[in-house]
Amino acid sequence: MQENTPLERITEGFTTIWANVNKSQIRGPGAKGNLPFYNNSMELNRDISVALCQWMVQNSNRKLSFLDGLAATGIRGLRLANEIKGDFSVYINDWNSESYSLIKRNILELKLEKCIALNSNLNKVLSNERYDYIDIDPFGSPVYFIDSAMRSINNNGIIACTATDTATLCGRHQKVCFRRYTAHSLNTIPMKEIGLRIILGVICRTAGIYEKGIIPLLTYASDHYFRIYVKVINGAKKSDQSMNNLKLIDSEKIFPFNIKGKAIGPMWNCKLQDKRFIQELREIVLNKKLGKRTEIWKLFDFLEDEANGPMFFFSTDGISSILKRSPPKIFDVIEHLKKNGYFASRTHFNPMGFKTDAPQDEIEKLFK
Ligand SMILES: C[S@@+](CC[C@H](N)C(=O)[O-])C[C@H]1O[C@@H](n2cnc3c(N)ncnc32)[C@H](O)[C@@H]1O
Repeated sequence: MQENTPLERITEGFTTIWANVNKSQIRGPGAKGNLPFYNNSMELNRDISVALCQWMVQNSNRKLSFLDGLAATGIRGLRLANEIKGDFSVYINDWNSESYSLIKRNILELKLEKCIALNSNLNKVLSNERYDYIDIDPFGSPVYFIDSAMRSINNNGIIACTATDTATLCGRHQKVCFRRYTAHSLNTIPMKEIGLRIILGVICRTAGIYEKGIIPLLTYASDHYFRIYVKVINGAKKSDQSMNNLKLIDSEKIFPFNIKGKAIGPMWNCKLQDKRFIQELREIVLNKKLGKRTEIWKLFDFLEDEANGPMFFFSTDGISSILKRSPPKIFDVIEHLKKNGYFASRTHFNPMGFKTDAPQDEIEKLFK
């Protein structure tokens, strides 16, 4: 580690570590030189992974093995080792040698016996060992690690990944999206949902190669990233079941695009959440010291509410601008649709968005 690296003490959850918090030292995706920084905007993302790994330990009758594959300061893996109760070990990897030194120093200071630092290319780590939980948290796209993670993950294990290439996934760079994900996106109102479903599609397809199936447990979009937790189950039958959910979608179904014959995807067209899993996770969130508990609670409210809704959503401002009417209150829209026997919920993807299975002309009546 460089002698003059400006390290500070930072605390997240109940873990205090040495970290570089100087954001001006950000380097590009996967840079091998210089010490990666501590990014406090990802605290909620890490809080949820702590709760989820605690859930895994509580629901297992054997010792589990967790991998924080792209660790930077190591904060996520250090928190897993320090804050989770039960039988498990944590491997914390970064190919950056300064990160590696810092992670080792933090492991020593925190006296973490269940924790091992690694200094390698993540794809190499994944080719050498199997894990029950693999966390892929890159600058940009996780796609470069999905194949090796799929080979490495144990049966019933969980792959977690973040994607920050949201502009690409939301249809702003069509050619990049097709090269990277072999999928067509669309820059329109439900673009965040399309982006999330495109990554899930790639994970599903990769699982298929290895005769594995996936079940999305928890997935969401935030301002600047997507986050996905999928359970991976071995077996050709499970694989076929999840491959049935990989579809090309006619953009006619994507309001307000409504153009026949333009295919979007392939993408995941089944549930994005497991509602029961989220309910179980809440118990853990309540009982752990998590800095972003209130925000997680609100996010879970949205995710549970929309969990059984149809694919894609409408937005009150989108319909209003097309019909040239002022938008009704979103709560009134939802109440009205529910009263008429339709599914209706808000969506975390968009503050003006709502999901419903009501036909479009029925919805438009509410705006006229
Ligand atoms: C976005 S940062 C990780 C942030 C961290 N998970 C956190 O919660 O603060 C991405 C890290 O991945 C590392 N990295 C990029 N490509 C890698 C590879 N192929 N193998 C191992 N580490 C890699 C970079 O050095 C960087 O530290």
